[in-house]
Amino acid sequence: MKYLCLMIAISLSSSVAFATEDIDAKLYNYRSAVSKLMKTLKPELVNTMKSKGPVAAIEVCNIKSPIMTEAVSKDTGFVVQRTSLKPRNAANTPDEWETKVLNQFEDRKAKGENPKSIEFYEILENDGKRQIRYMKAIPTSKPCTVCHGEMIPPPVQAKLKELYPTDKAVGFKVGDLRGAFSIIDTITQ
Ligand code: HEC
Repeated sequence: MKYLCLMIAISLSSSVAFATEDIDAKLYNYRSAVSKLMKTLKPELVNTMKSKGPVAAIEVCNIKSPIMTEAVSKDTGFVVQRTSLKPRNAANTPDEWETKVLNQFEDRKAKGENPKSIEFYEILENDGKRQIRYMKAIPTSKPCTVCHGEMIPPPVQAKLKELYPTDKAVGFKVGDLRGAFSIIDTITQ
């Protein structure tokens, strides 16, 4: 009996170890995709704001960034989106799982965790399919406040109002959580 228990323990621990390795590889891909997007988006926003002004830069967030997000999704086979508890674009409204995770991120930040490294994943069963869902917090930095802050220049406000009548993404301060990247990866095997 003692022997049998030991064998069960060994087989359990080895299957868990394999799953951990597998998930580690996937997490590595999610983190690279997100960091690639961050590294492209932010400099492009800042450069366009410098060269053409913030009204022109609105296009970087509203046209180019969805295109880039889609491109990463095509490259990797999983879906990358952006979401927020206070979305600008209603299409970025979080679903139930994302809302739960965004609230969890706010709690973790309030307890002192660095917003730059806040992330979370979970393996879910959905309609008989297994999905890995991953989220990574997006902190607010100085350049973001031009369009998401407390004192948005009037011409920018006017353009935003025209494009996003239900805009909630204002009033953010440096260091606040602006939102998160959200990845859905459906596992086929
Ligand atoms: C020039 C104006 C502008 C600046 C600067 C800007 N944004 Fe945005 N942001 C927008 C617009 C416009 C949208 C809506 C995009 C869309 O239609 O999907 C948006 C959407 C987002 C979203 C998706 C969720 C939502 O609210 O719809 C996130 C996350 C976000 N911005 C983060 C940031 C961060 C972080 C920065 C700073 C690095 C930043 N933004 C700087 C204009 C801006």
